[in-house]
Amino acid sequence: MGAHRLRCGASPACLLLAFLLAMAMPGLTAGLTRRYTFNVTMATVTRLCKTKSIPTVNGQFPGPKLTVREGDRLVVTVHNNINNNVTFHWHGVQQRRSAWADGPAYITQCPMRPGQSYVYRFTIVGQRGTLWWHAHFSWLRATLYGPIVILPPRGVAYPFPKPYREVPLMLGEWFNADPEAVIKQALQTGGGPNVSDAYTFNGFPGPTYNCSANNTFKLKVKPGRTYMLRLINSALNDELFFAVANHTLTVVQADASYVKPFAANTLVISPGQTMDVLLTAATNPSSLAFAIAIAPYTNTVGTFDNTTAQAVLEYAPQRAAALRNLPAPPLPRYNDTGAVTNFSSKFRSLASPQYPARVPLNVDRHFFFAVGLGADPCKSPVNGTCQAPNNTRFAASINNVSFIMPKTSLLQAHYQRRYSGVLAANFPAAPVRKFNYTGTPPNNTFVTHGTRVVPLAFNTTVEVVLQDTSIQGAESHPLHLHGYDFHVVGTGFGNYDAANDTAKYNLVDPVQRNTISVPTAGWVAIRFVANNPGVWIMHCHFDVHLSWGLSMAWLVNDGPLPNQKLPPPPSDIPKCS
Ligand code: C2O
Repeated sequence: MGAHRLRCGASPACLLLAFLLAMAMPGLTAGLTRRYTFNVTMATVTRLCKTKSIPTVNGQFPGPKLTVREGDRLVVTVHNNINNNVTFHWHGVQQRRSAWADGPAYITQCPMRPGQSYVYRFTIVGQRGTLWWHAHFSWLRATLYGPIVILPPRGVAYPFPKPYREVPLMLGEWFNADPEAVIKQALQTGGGPNVSDAYTFNGFPGPTYNCSANNTFKLKVKPGRTYMLRLINSALNDELFFAVANHTLTVVQADASYVKPFAANTLVISPGQTMDVLLTAATNPSSLAFAIAIAPYTNTVGTFDNTTAQAVLEYAPQRAAALRNLPAPPLPRYNDTGAVTNFSSKFRSLASPQYPARVPLNVDRHFFFAVGLGADPCKSPVNGTCQAPNNTRFAASINNVSFIMPKTSLLQAHYQRRYSGVLAANFPAAPVRKFNYTGTPPNNTFVTHGTRVVPLAFNTTVEVVLQDTSIQGAESHPLHLHGYDFHVVGTGFGNYDAANDTAKYNLVDPVQRNTISVPTAGWVAIRFVANNPGVWIMHCHFDVHLSWGLSMAWLVNDGPLPNQKLPPPPSDIPKCS
């Protein structure tokens, strides 16, 4: 918002004018700079009666909450004091002309090695609500994550009544084992990774697990008051159902954009997504406490953590022994796709004069991406075999290209126009071989590999249809785009059919998000305008699928004007060798 700042010197008339302008247009005042320090250190925590050492930020788990206002500048100084490479990503922050701060390892930066530091500098522009930060290296985000609360600019109200209190609620996944060892083993055997041992609320599994009642997150409420839960799904590999016994929720925000408020008893939230929901405490509650519950939604043919975690909505303090017997909400069955579709169909952007939808109506380039799992031949077997079906290794791909993580930063290579040996600018715009994506899988399920990107001219309007495949069994995939929000203009089941499906698009008030679940055996269509120069990864936010290569990158070139160009890299950006 710096462009709107008046430079007044000492002139009283100018200062008065600036003051009046600020009062008239509170959204246009220059923001503050907020500084945070992240010391990445190991810390000892006990969960499920097991004490272990985990990577944390500042010894906290979950990590610190960053609170900013729209328009503020964030300066986060990170010191890596663990025995592992690490980077941080500010999930959902659009990073306009600050791609160097985006954080995915080997895409926009080389990782910080043990002992190294890096300062992330970026401004929050045109976003308000809840986002989050997490490590973006291997599976380190299992414990390295925290909320980003973006308040509206001073003097700007929420488009709904101001809640009495606001509480971030991070839904996570707990592993008794070291998550790094879990993914390492899976990549060695070629099979699916061991599943987590519990789901968590702000790091606490709660009373449904053995030896865990003392590790329960409690939300204390006063009768008649309205609370805003800032929900974040930070689980590694699971979409989650969420419900509160005897309480209806009102959804008001998704991925840092307001939505038309709607009521729901059960929510579905995919890894990477955020949702602000209002909960009004009863004036005469039928119990002094109620369970808040989460459980997985999945259609996987593999194993998954099929447990339910609980937190507590407390009208009056409860003893740990009482927590197992609270009124609990009914949750849909783990594979209830109908419940998911019903919930997802309710999202509409606010599309008001103050928060217009700005849906791109004319598309410059159409892409059709077939998204799903596949296989690799059994090279280097463990004990003579590979653990995926038919003695293969699991792989994942978009348009049959499984992404190879480069050894150097793609953004650095792009900035220096040094592409050869690093990336190929030939990612396919559609599958090379078409097939019945949601029907019987083809005989050959092997994927190809490469670090292939789509180059885009500045300001290109892009439509991507993301089509799920049933190659290893149909399942949903939460696709996350870095650097942009997109508009979710259409969705459906079966194979996308341009002739009929385009006519049903919502171009009036589609939800704006950074992460959308490609429905199981279905498709979703998104649009965005490539007006932010840089290299932007788009990937499945199931970490296991990301590890298997379900990822690609957009290379968005500079525009002609000075303020349309990627600035030079910060001098402290970590080096790869
Ligand atoms: Cu939240 Cu690339 O990730």
